[in-house]
Amino acid sequence: MRTRPRRLRQSPAMRRLVRQTRLHPSELVLPMFVREGGDPRPIDSMPGVAQHSMDSFRGALVEAAGAGVGGVMLFGVPAQRDAVGSGATDPAGILNAATEVAVAEVGDALVVQTDLCLDEFTNHGHCGVLDDRGRVDNDATLARYAEMALAQARAGSALLGLSGMMDGQVAHVRDALDGEGFTDVALLGYAAKYASAYYGPFRDAVDSQLTGDRRTYQLDAGNRREGLREAELDIAEGADVVMVKPASSYLDVLADVAAVSEVPVWAYQVSGEYAMVEAAAAQGWLDRDAVIAESVLAIRRAGAEAVLTYWAMELAQRLRNEE
Ligand code: PBG
Repeated sequence: MRTRPRRLRQSPAMRRLVRQTRLHPSELVLPMFVREGGDPRPIDSMPGVAQHSMDSFRGALVEAAGAGVGGVMLFGVPAQRDAVGSGATDPAGILNAATEVAVAEVGDALVVQTDLCLDEFTNHGHCGVLDDRGRVDNDATLARYAEMALAQARAGSALLGLSGMMDGQVAHVRDALDGEGFTDVALLGYAAKYASAYYGPFRDAVDSQLTGDRRTYQLDAGNRREGLREAELDIAEGADVVMVKPASSYLDVLADVAAVSEVPVWAYQVSGEYAMVEAAAAQGWLDRDAVIAESVLAIRRAGAEAVLTYWAMELAQRLRNEE
């Protein structure tokens, strides 16, 4: 035998030298929830993750910046909701107010990003506005997204995460921003966002009002080719970054997109991926720290250049200590 792959595995030093993919704090983005009014609240289905109050949010931002994460992705949990999601476009709405705080606190240290979607703000829980028959109205929603984009840009968000899965949303928001002079605000297209049961805990996290599902706008789990098509459309519409979501169950789509994308490709390790590991680890059934590192590494290996993960801060701190 001349070929012995084990040669390169025989010592920690050799393995370290030949490792193809590595994790770095700057490639981790921490999703954060900020709740309007009152005290912080734990999220039962996501142990270790909280709905922050504005106060606890400030502290967590400083900690995240200290850990060296690349960015934070902000979600708002409003006190009031209505049919069109008015809180999303109100400059004093929770997400816009939280964005201003984040930019002031840590805007120089990391990239402040905002979720651009109506679902947290609507009383029906859908990502868009409804027509008179109760269907999600694509083009009427685009007008709301344009207003939401301007509100987020005015609040100082550097990167808008378009997670609503309306057709044409990237182009529409780009035009609206450019028309008001916000040419430097970047767009993250949640290009291939699948209708997924892995979002379950997130719905707790934002007190979602949704009763049905999102299958008329998010992708069907059986479709691989369509994930690539959505990414290509978002890039053609002007997305600066594209995303695949969820991550671990969609690594094939991630690899497809990464193979052809002209822009950075990210992935979102979602709430259900987090909750599964935390739950198994709490039972003593998994080595928690090892699984966390392996799961994020695998998402990077499949082609994601950055990963949104609820473990971003913890992992960033660990990577720093290992250096
Ligand atoms: C929509 C949005 C969702 C998530 C991120 N943005 C929920 C959904 O589409 O139902 C899910 C994130 C997660 O599960 O961690 N605003």
